[in-house]
Amino acid sequence: MREPKNILVTGGAGFIGVNFVKMLLDEVPDVKVVNLDALTYAGNLTSLHDKMDEPRHVFVHGDIRDSDLLSRVAREHSIDAIVNFAAESHVDRSIEGPKVFVETNVLGTLALLEVARNADITFLQVSTDEVYGSLGDEGYFSEETNVKPNSPYSASKAAADHLVHSFKHTFGMDCLITRCSNNYGPYQFPEKMIPLCINNARLGRKIPIYGDGMQVRDWLFVTDHCHAIWKVLTEAEDEVFNVGGNNEKTNLDVVGAILALMGKDESLIEFVEDRPGHDRRYAIDASKIQSRLGWTPSVTFEEGIRRTVAWYQEHQAWMDEVTSGEYLGYYERVYGG
Ligand code: NAD
Ligand code: TYD
Repeated sequence: MREPKNILVTGGAGFIGVNFVKMLLDEVPDVKVVNLDALTYAGNLTSLHDKMDEPRHVFVHGDIRDSDLLSRVAREHSIDAIVNFAAESHVDRSIEGPKVFVETNVLGTLALLEVARNADITFLQVSTDEVYGSLGDEGYFSEETNVKPNSPYSASKAAADHLVHSFKHTFGMDCLITRCSNNYGPYQFPEKMIPLCINNARLGRKIPIYGDGMQVRDWLFVTDHCHAIWKVLTEAEDEVFNVGGNNEKTNLDVVGAILALMGKDESLIEFVEDRPGHDRRYAIDASKIQSRLGWTPSVTFEEGIRRTVAWYQEHQAWMDEVTSGEYLGYYERVYGG
């Protein structure tokens, strides 16, 4: 059992990081959270406005590739655990420009590992089921499945996972890796499918469905992922844990559910050219984390998607703010306005 007190959360201004920081501050009374984020297009402090004056939350604007900054932060705050969310996370962007994915996801993780090694800090890498590649109609990813990434994004995450493992194996570091399925919920940047669909439906824009829309993802409500990470960080003895929701849905099913909840017509759906190299199906076997650590998802897809749609409808100002910057150029380039 680990009892970290001073936790460095990287990427804590992005979607899952924000939810994790809020969970720590709300549910774990005696931890201090140092939140280091470069505030790329995907990171926004608006999401943390209610936590910025909280004494147990220290925000540091910085890059995970900045080794000097990382060493200083680790020393000044007596960091005893690092949870690394910081990443370039969008597959489509990795197809447009892979380089920054290697720079942040691989070199950034390496810089964090070096600091963790030097200061004897527990390191948890927030990874993804996408490192396993794509499944056919049958079967599940287990922790024993060979890593076989298909996109520049998943390749960079797999490379980072290999580095994490190598630091544990070679230097005896305390390293952990979680590989989770697709998350959804509040504060997700609207380039990912679910918030993109909600935002476009709200604005009366078309919803682009890649290919035939029959690709399958295993959707997990974000707070369930955050609780799984905390369980692994505090209780796990083994290195790798898959995390999944047992909620396999086709993209068309997901979009249909959202449009129904919003009272919008399916004529908004527009089938567009498929994503190059598009992974067909992800599905997680989460029996290890369930049996060893007693974690199970607590939010069903029906409940989670209802809460998600309601949250975005109640937070249109958040949506307008995060889409007001650099993202708009990307949106127009990719979706034509
Ligand atoms: P996100 O894109 O919403 O947030 C990423 C955050 O990292 C942003 O706040 C960004 O500013 C920050 N960041 C980017 N580059 C940085 C750098 N060089 N230095 C410091 N900060 C930097 O991503 P997310 O969806 O919250 O995902 C978080 C992590 O979880 C990622 O590592 C991702 O691979 C993993 N993951 C995501 C999902 C999902 O469905 N979203 C599923 C499984 C795993
Ligand atoms: P996404 O949210 O980008 O997550 P990931 O690619 O990491 O699984 O996409 C989820 C699924 O939705 C994926 O199969 C691609 C598809 N998709 C669309 O059909 N249209 C879109 O506009 C987007 C962003 C995704």
